[in-house]
Amino acid sequence: MCGIVGYVGKNAAQDFLISGLKRLEYRGYDSAGIVTLSENGDATLLRAKGKIANLEDKLSNNKRNDKIGIGHTRWATHGEPSEANAHPHQAGKIFLVHNGIIENYKELKEHLTEHEFKSQTDTEVLAALVNSFYKDGKYPLVNAVVQALKLTKGTYGIAVVTTDNPNEIVVARSGSPLVIGVGHGETMLASDAAALVGHTKQAIYLNDGEVAVITRDNVVIKTLNAEPVSAKVEEIETNLAAIQKGGYEHFLLKEIMEQPESLAETLRGRINEKEGTVRLGGPGLSQEQLRKVKHLVIVGCGTAYHAGLMAGYYIEQFTPEITVESVIASEYRYKNAYIPKDSVALIVSQSGETADTLACLREIKKQGIPTIGIVNAIGSTIAREVDGGTYVHVGPEISVASTKAFTSQVVAMVMFGLTIAQAKGARSGILKPYIDELIKLPAAIRETLDEASEAVRKIAQKYASLEHAIYLGRDTAYPAAMEGALKLKEISYVDANAYAFGELKHGPLALVDERFFEVALLPKGELFDKAISNLQEVLARGGQVIAITNVRDFEMPVRDVIVIKDTIKHFAPLLMNLVMQLIAYYVTVAKGYDVDQPRNLAKSVTVE
Ligand code: AGP
Repeated sequence: MCGIVGYVGKNAAQDFLISGLKRLEYRGYDSAGIVTLSENGDATLLRAKGKIANLEDKLSNNKRNDKIGIGHTRWATHGEPSEANAHPHQAGKIFLVHNGIIENYKELKEHLTEHEFKSQTDTEVLAALVNSFYKDGKYPLVNAVVQALKLTKGTYGIAVVTTDNPNEIVVARSGSPLVIGVGHGETMLASDAAALVGHTKQAIYLNDGEVAVITRDNVVIKTLNAEPVSAKVEEIETNLAAIQKGGYEHFLLKEIMEQPESLAETLRGRINEKEGTVRLGGPGLSQEQLRKVKHLVIVGCGTAYHAGLMAGYYIEQFTPEITVESVIASEYRYKNAYIPKDSVALIVSQSGETADTLACLREIKKQGIPTIGIVNAIGSTIAREVDGGTYVHVGPEISVASTKAFTSQVVAMVMFGLTIAQAKGARSGILKPYIDELIKLPAAIRETLDEASEAVRKIAQKYASLEHAIYLGRDTAYPAAMEGALKLKEISYVDANAYAFGELKHGPLALVDERFFEVALLPKGELFDKAISNLQEVLARGGQVIAITNVRDFEMPVRDVIVIKDTIKHFAPLLMNLVMQLIAYYVTVAKGYDVDQPRNLAKSVTVE
């Protein structure tokens, strides 16, 4: 997902644009650019390949006091990362930045023969299309933008300026988020509220199909069909500390280490310790509706999908009379799957903007199935389109690799499952162990992180030279293993894959040799001995195993063992996941790779 910023007001636009792009750099960081306009319409366009720092180098020799501008940090979809492909793109007097994909850009391009294309991007086609309607200022910019958008197919969040009028920015969205910050004598724009923090607390979230003209003192919103839209000003919750590193070297380590606090926020006010019950206001389902639920569909991508898988295991444990289906959004959205009427769909997304998950939500809603969001980003598109929801409240998650959101997504879904079980009259004896453990979980997380961090940091170097890894677990430790493998894969580029322990002998065991290391999750429980015999199969073939267990007297010939406290039984795999997050972090640090902004990825994938 790319980052978009815009500014029009009393101060120098360049300052806000650069600081805003830095806040959004985690969303996409192949290249970046800004354009500012002087009072008489002189444009200063600066673009650079790579990180924002490269753009700042260019800026140092091009300081302007211009009071209006737009900027963009790119995650390449069409065309390689390069200065020529960096936004803003120019067409005549118009400059445009875009987040999303214009699916029919090739057909459109064929008709734009007057424009001399300089990039491979779909965005430049959109700029040229707007310009073709702008007719050198014969028509208002907003009209030209609307005419162009009516011909496009795909998704967009755009900001457009013209040198003819250095007092207004035209913005529009369909599928890619835009939020307008309302200040005093200044108006800001961003694709994520994080860029507005510290500048204003007043925000207007643009909705799909809306176009706005923003000036320093005004915001006028209409639909593409020119119907007026009343601007709804909302409060931005994020605080500055939350989006800064707080003394940590990387956002990832900060977000791993703050999980006791972030999980406490997820739990806050939702568990009645005295009664031993869970109460979730957000889903908005009556006791009768909860009682009737027979099937859950849990939708997500990547880490959110793993959270759904893991939560599904737990929910089926304490509510055996319902079935749970955890699905990958990009697969499920095309399945035309029939969902039984007595179902509820959980839509899991940290960013609340993931295109495949959003598309799935819209498909599921067509079947009249109640949709419940398990989302972190307040006011995000998914959060606003579900029927009800439970925010996980972990605060901004900046690092591309999702960590604290995963832990809280699992717990939020477990709490939702508990509300169903309560409504169905489940015996408190069944639910109480889970609820008691949820209450203890933040402290157990703190204990695990304190104990494991140093141990993992010490062993990580040993494994940093290996390029293949196998993660293994059974039952709830299997989705945990999947999440652990994804964490290592996405930031260290190690070829890490997870298998159910019991599946090893059906094929993956053939992989085990000196090129691999294995991470084995071995929680106490009725399947512990089974996992141990599977582990023997790996060790017998020379496996280099990191065992993660809560069995204190663990005695097996593994290469390393990380022992965690056994105070938590059911949710032990969540604690083991913390250790795997640390393994991914310290192996990546040992390799010297970019921990927070791994290659080829972006924090929120708003394209399909
Ligand atoms: C997780 O570490 C990845 N960054 C990625 O798999 C992510 O979980 C996925 O893209 C879903 O994002 P969302 O939760 O914002 O929808």
